[in-house]
Amino acid sequence: MSLLITGGTGFIGSHTVVELLALDKDIVIVDNLANSSTLVLDRIKQITGKTVTFIEADICDRQAMQQVFLTHDIDAVVHFAGLKAVGESSTMPLSYYHNNVAGSITLLQVMAEHGVKNLVFSSSATVYGENNPSPLDETMPTSATNPYGQTKLMIENILFDLAKSDEQWSIACLRYFNPIGAHESGLIGENPNGIPNNLLPYVSQVAVGRLAQLQVFGDDYPTPDGTGVRDYIHVVDLAQGHVKALEKLKDISGCVPINLGTGNGTSVLEIVNTFKDISGQDIPYHIAPRRAGDIATVYADASVANNLLNWHAERDLATMIADTWRWQSQNPNGFE
Ligand code: NAD
Ligand code: UFG
Repeated sequence: MSLLITGGTGFIGSHTVVELLALDKDIVIVDNLANSSTLVLDRIKQITGKTVTFIEADICDRQAMQQVFLTHDIDAVVHFAGLKAVGESSTMPLSYYHNNVAGSITLLQVMAEHGVKNLVFSSSATVYGENNPSPLDETMPTSATNPYGQTKLMIENILFDLAKSDEQWSIACLRYFNPIGAHESGLIGENPNGIPNNLLPYVSQVAVGRLAQLQVFGDDYPTPDGTGVRDYIHVVDLAQGHVKALEKLKDISGCVPINLGTGNGTSVLEIVNTFKDISGQDIPYHIAPRRAGDIATVYADASVANNLLNWHAERDLATMIADTWRWQSQNPNGFE
């Protein structure tokens, strides 16, 4: 029996593959390399001493996906594949809806045809929208403010309806907060194309000298130092949450939303100062206007994950930043 990991050469997927290989799972990765490179496969082998089956394919390609299920004895799928840049999603909405929503429907149809009804899905805290107070819990109403968020919400709704229509489906819908950090080996990590949109890749590229200066988007939020507060979670903790969710699928009937966060909030300036201390590098920054669509404070109520999955995040902020810096300083140009 094998696990299919869509998007398995990406940031979160590659870290999850490492954790699954440690448990001796057989892994089949499907990725179209839209935002990743096969170089990560060598790094995974260096870390684990194990190999995975890699298939370069698009989840929107029904024939290719059917071939995957015909050739491999898949019993569960962890579905990471998707486009994830919030700003880009507003300029290319059709690409996002096609890739994320239509791609997920194709994957689900092929899974159903082959009787594979165990799924862990990468959702996002973005589905809590702008109007819920933190800590955010899974009973709160969901909404979206941009096409990327809409795709996550649409896929969640599809999964809820699917699980209602057929009780054989077991689905964990994992709502990630802000994944950062890297594997402690420094061999794999986040490798964004172009100028990073997210805070940690931006700060680490400033620290390593690839970018000149960070813009801090707003210092007039109702937070302790005026800058935005987020729930940063170590990508290895997140990966281990997927392992726990996969183990739990056998007890889940239906589709269950589960937050994966630490439950703690950290401000932009706390990130900058901690990064500076740990890396020993200067991080020049200036205060810029608020970024459209940002909210002041986002952090998780992680009690469902604690109780249902027996999971909690173990790594603290200093570890997250030390691991981010090790990855960035050892690989200033990513995997190249
Ligand atoms: P990533 O871009 O590093 O990984 C996604 C992978 O999916 C990439 O390797 C990409 O090449 C692949 N891919 C994209 N479209 C595909 C398609 N049609 N067919 C096959 N492969 C395809 O991103 P990540 O940070 O690892 O995110 C993984 C998942 O988690 C995504 O669904 C993302 O939306 C979700 N998520 C990420 C964050 C975050 O901040 N990183 C937060 C919440 C949710
Ligand atoms: N920020 C800056 N400067 C930057 C980048 C970010 O000040 O150059 C600030 C933002 O204003 C925010 C914080 O840093 O206060 C975190 O911003 P990120 O872009 O790193 O993360 P977001 O919380 O905005 O969004 C992330 C993912 C989304 C996901 C969301 C879920 O990018 O895909 O978390 O909570 F939907």
